[in-house]
Formats: sequence, C-alpha cells, structure tokens
Amino acid sequence: MIPASDLRAEFDASEADRYDLHSRHLNHQMVRVLKTIGFDARFVRGKGAHLWDAAGNRYLDLVSGWGVFAIGRNHPHVAAALKSVLDGDLPNLVQMDVSPLAGRLAERLLARTPWLQKAFFANSGAEAVEAAIKFARAATGRAGIVHCEHSFHGLTYGALSAVGEKLYRDGFGPALPGFTEIPFDDLPALEKALRSRDVAAFLVEPIQGKVVRPPSPAYLREAQALCRKYGTLFVADEIQCGLGRTGKFLAVEHFGAEPDMVLLAKGLSGGHVPVGVVLMRKEAFAKTFDRMDKAVVHGSTFAKNDLAMAAGLATLDVIEDEKLIENAAARGERLLAFLRRMQSEHEFVKDARGLGLLLALELGEPRGLKLRAFWGMLEAMNKGLTGQLVTIPMFRDQRVLVQVAGNGSRAIKLLPTLTLDDADCDWIERAFSETLTAAGESAGPVWSLGKTLLEGARAAAG
Ligand SMILES: Cc1ncc(COP(=O)(O)O)c(C=O)c1O
Repeated sequence: MIPASDLRAEFDASEADRYDLHSRHLNHQMVRVLKTIGFDARFVRGKGAHLWDAAGNRYLDLVSGWGVFAIGRNHPHVAAALKSVLDGDLPNLVQMDVSPLAGRLAERLLARTPWLQKAFFANSGAEAVEAAIKFARAATGRAGIVHCEHSFHGLTYGALSAVGEKLYRDGFGPALPGFTEIPFDDLPALEKALRSRDVAAFLVEPIQGKVVRPPSPAYLREAQALCRKYGTLFVADEIQCGLGRTGKFLAVEHFGAEPDMVLLAKGLSGGHVPVGVVLMRKEAFAKTFDRMDKAVVHGSTFAKNDLAMAAGLATLDVIEDEKLIENAAARGERLLAFLRRMQSEHEFVKDARGLGLLLALELGEPRGLKLRAFWGMLEAMNKGLTGQLVTIPMFRDQRVLVQVAGNGSRAIKLLPTLTLDDADCDWIERAFSETLTAAGESAGPVWSLGKTLLEGARAAAG
C-alpha cells in the first residue's frame, strides 16, 4: 500500500492502468476518442506551458486545460500559497464567520473593475453563470435571459439554457423557461429582444470562446447602451477570455464597455483549486441580499474556501509580477500575424482570427480538384474531421496539443498558457507551417489520417 501522503507514487503506480480504469469506471467514450485520434500519450508531468509523456517526450500544450492553466501548470508561487494554507491551520469555512482571504481577493478583483463594487464567489464557471442569472432576476424582477447563438456558458441547467450549441442541449430538455437566443454581433436582434422590457440580463461572451469569434468594434459598447435603455443588466461572461488572455485584464476593455456584471473562473484557480466569481454593481447585489434573514439565500458550502481564495490571490500575483497580460498581447500579436501569413500561403486556410492568446485558424475547401475530392470524403464522414487533419499530425509529429474549435468545426483553436516565450512561439510556427504544407501538398495526410483513425478505432475497440 502506498502512503496517502505520496500521491505522486500513487499516480506512477496507477499510470499504466489509466485507460482501463476510465473505461471501466468513468467516461469510456473519452478513452475511445483519445485512442481513435492517437492522443493516448499517457502524460506523466506538466510544468508551465509543457507536458511530458511516459516516454519522456515534451509537448507544447495549446489547450491549457480549456484555459485553466493561464499562468502555466504547477506554478511554484501558487503551490507555495496552497501549502501555506494547509500548514497554517487556518479557520477555513467556519460559515458562521467571514474569511479575510475572500475579502482580500474580492478587493483585488474589484480594484481591476472600478465601476463594480461587489463580488460573489462560486466553485466553477457554470456556478458563476447560475449566480448571475439569479442576481439579475432578483435585481430586475424580470425573468428573461437573452444569449447568443454559438455561445457557451457551462453545462448546469441555468447555464445550459443559455448555451447556443445544439450538441450540448439535445436530450436534456426542456431548458429553463425565459431564455431567448439571438445572433452574436447583431444589435437590431438584441434591441428586438429587449424591447418587451421583460429581459433581466443579456448574457454574452465578449469574444465567443467555442468558435473564437471577436465582435465588431462597436458591438459591446452599443449592446451595453441598449441594455441600459431597456433596463436590462449587461452581463459579460469572461470565464474564458478574461484574466489577461486577450492582452487586457478583461476583454471588454478592448471595446470600452463596463458591464453590470463580469464573470470569471478558469484561470483564477491557478490551475489547482476551482473557483468562480461574479463581480457586479452593488445595486444588482442588493436585491438578493436585501434582508438579514436572506443572508444565506444564495451561496454554496465550499464557495470562498481558503484554498480557492489563496489560489486566486497567488494567481493575481503571478499575472502581475510576470507581466502575463503584456505577454499575452505581444505573443498574441506575433501569432496572429503568423496565422494570417498561413492564410495567405495556403489556399485551404480560410480565416485567421482572435485576440491575444485566444486564436483560431479556420480551414476551408481546397481549390485543387484531387485534394478537394479527398477533403469532400472526409467532410462526408464527419464535418469535424477536417480539423483533425491538422490536430492529429500536430500532436503525433510536432508534439503540439491543439484542439478543434467546437463540435463539427473546421477551425483549429489556440488557447495556450499566457506564459509562452519566443521558443514556444517558434515551435508553434514551425509545427503549423510543416503540418499545413504537408496537408496541402498531396493526399498523403488524408490517407495518413484515415489510417490513424482506423488503427485508433481498432485499438479503442480492443
Ligand atoms: C465562456 C464560458 N463560460 C462558462 C464556462 C463554464 O465553466 P465551467 O466549466 O468551470 O463550469 C466556460 C467553460 O468552458 C466558458 O468557456
């Protein structure tokens, strides 16, 4: 028996069984996916922007745990903060007391959003979205929630009711009543939805994360003005694009907007302890907590726990000390320029877009007849497979972990840590360049993809 205090040894001892364990007791479909696309690398270590597999190979991670590792994996400052909480015998979660660490984290976050005065902590992004829906309904006395097509806000019922992707909603209906979907970046559609004056909140990602879609420059500011005109709260879900990812602390800062509520989660955890937060105007907060007997009317047992608060405080230190916001802006600019170059060099690259270190490269049908026929075959099998033409060789041959942007999408999404350095950017550029050149030169990569998928499917079945 391995001592409970040595979880590294437990990990190492169980490492070879990971796929069996998951197939038996957890999500067997995820294991099938990994084996089918050849992503069953068996990672054993992570540090900063990198992962190492069981054979000792180093990978560059452009998924960053879906944005959780904004400051990089296993940052020593966060580890030290967490150890100090554990070693400090703090009076955690007394419940009939209030935590000074939560007070400090709220103060530091609100210092970044000076037009907002109150913070509400949750345990995840989806929980922050749920809270925002409740606060907005209580504050306005209205039920309506307007959200956008292709939006993603999380998978609990309230958040899911505001998700604009069918895949996540099918089979789980009915959604909560009162939710209306409108196209993103469409002000007339927003005004039409708000005119009835029964909408509590317009919930929007300043940059849509699933599809990596930034809005046109005036959209958010004018959406905010429309919300004010019709008495609707303007709620920015910055769970994916906030905390410096786009080169500003909040993505809305690029667009001159000051939302009534701002939601953060993911990276605030330091990659270790889940945490979410709603930052909001005091008026929006006041209606929910308007009497002493309602002091606990919304909350969650583990919210504001000291480990989560310490992770948040340490994460803000790292973002500031290591100038990660400036780094995201500079590296993002370099990589977007590179992706645009790829677009001009490869006729089957249709778009390069994004802001800071939230980027995407979209593939499209090639013009060459022969290649077009092969691509057609892939698309006929599954629309999402075209993107795998890039992600699979990127992983297998270039050791770059990168994902397709959303279900059935032809776009490749880059969501790296904000710590990328020159060598990482060189690696990304070399990897994309070689992969796209190979994909465009001949039908070879399509056959190779077919072979990988076939072999993978066999391995997954076995
Ligand atoms: C914009 C956005 N909102 C909300 C969520 C939900 O966060 P969580 O997975 O922590 O519940 C996500 C997660 O990807 C997200 O990208």
